[in-house]
Amino acid sequence: MLLSLLVLATWLTDVTGAALIELTGKVGGEVTFHCPVDKQKTLKMLYFQKGIDFVNGYYAKKDASKTAWRNTRLDLNKSTVHMSNLKPSHGGDYKCIIMYSDESSIELDVQLRLTVTANYSKPTLTVHCSDAINNFSCLVQCASHGGYPRKEVTWHVPQSLTVVNNSTTRDPDTTTFNISSTAYVNCSDGQQTSLRCSVGNVSSDIFTVCKRKHPLGHSPSVTIAAICAAGVGFCIMVALLWRCCCYKKGQRKAAAECEENGCEEEVIRLHANQGAC
Ligand SMILES: *[C@@H]1O[C@H](CO)[C@@H](O)[C@H](O)[C@H]1NC(C)=O
Ligand SMILES: *[C@@H]1O[C@H](CO)[C@@H](O)[C@H](O)[C@H]1NC(C)=O
Ligand SMILES: *[C@@H]1O[C@H](CO)[C@@H](O)[C@H](O)[C@H]1NC(C)=O
Ligand SMILES: *[C@@H]1O[C@H](CO)[C@@H](O)[C@H](O)[C@H]1NC(C)=O
Ligand SMILES: *[C@@H]1O[C@H](CO)[C@@H](O)[C@H](O)[C@H]1NC(C)=O
Ligand SMILES: *[C@@H]1O[C@H](CO)[C@@H](O)[C@H](O)[C@H]1NC(C)=O
Ligand SMILES: *[C@@H]1O[C@H](CO)[C@@H](O)[C@H](O)[C@H]1NC(C)=O
Ligand SMILES: *[C@@H]1O[C@H](CO)[C@@H](O)[C@H](O)[C@H]1NC(C)=O
Repeated sequence: MLLSLLVLATWLTDVTGAALIELTGKVGGEVTFHCPVDKQKTLKMLYFQKGIDFVNGYYAKKDASKTAWRNTRLDLNKSTVHMSNLKPSHGGDYKCIIMYSDESSIELDVQLRLTVTANYSKPTLTVHCSDAINNFSCLVQCASHGGYPRKEVTWHVPQSLTVVNNSTTRDPDTTTFNISSTAYVNCSDGQQTSLRCSVGNVSSDIFTVCKRKHPLGHSPSVTIAAICAAGVGFCIMVALLWRCCCYKKGQRKAAAECEENGCEEEVIRLHANQGAC
């Protein structure tokens, strides 16, 4: 997540003539500050400080490394201070204080401004949908982590959606941010919605919500009704077949009885029933 060096130095000169050097570093990365030491002169002192806090330096051949920031290294040959394991808290204004052995002390009015940033991860979408008949809706969470400075989640949707929760947590070590936003989508109008979210200029994949799980595109009630209708139809057919079958059996039975007893009426009734088959 935390990658190495990106140093971008640009010289800017404001109206007073004081130089401002802007540097940017990545969280976990490194940066090199350069102090404009005159190589023709003998250096007596070089102090590199952030505001009034001593960062690293050199004074009359004495080693200042005990009080120096642990993530820094001074290179007198190059007049540089190298800073590693960058954190957002390292951002700010630094300066070099230079003194030569001929006592021509000069506090060069050079400001070094460091900005430390971290890229947010590509946002991920987590979707939970309810297919309930009276509550067809989705809860969509967009989450991204490890970024600096603090940013907001932006939703990209054709219709409106309701943000129900925003959350920001901060890593205690790197002080980078994890951010998330949860949105509620009402699917009751039956329209599929393609949505995505972004953090800064990093965007998530597109996700389509409000899709019915049933492949026929029917609601559960319609499907159940269709199954019932088919079932009822089948029952009617079975009933009709059974009835015809009984009729034939009954006919044989009645015919047998009639042969014995000579009952004409019964045969006539059975013949009338035949029309139902
Ligand atoms: C951060 O993102 C920028 C632009 O997307 C890219 O150029 C840079 O390499 C990324 N840095 C890191 C540390 O991933
Ligand atoms: C600085 O230069 C001296 C002599 O030129 C050399 O002996 C020394 O190793 C160098 N130090 C660094 C940190 O490069
Ligand atoms: C409707 O479904 C959502 C999930 O999409 C859930 O959070 C909510 O509690 C449900 N509401 C009711 C009234 O069941
Ligand atoms: C908001 O979302 C965060 C991260 O998912 C969660 O920890 C928190 O409990 C949620 N807050 C509310 C009020 O739902
Ligand atoms: C979440 O953040 C957005 C954008 O900053 C804001 O419009 C919205 O009101 C917030 N919603 C909640 C529930 O905190
Ligand atoms: C931030 O997110 C990363 C990756 O999901 C996780 O490992 C880390 O524990 C999270 N940190 C905080 C403070 O929530
Ligand atoms: C969803 O939208 C419909 C119609 O637009 C509305 O009747 C219903 O109350 C909404 N549901 C929720 C939970 O907001
Ligand atoms: C994203 O934005 C940052 C700063 O806003 C910029 O430096 C970077 O180049 C952008 N990356 C892309 C891929 O547009």
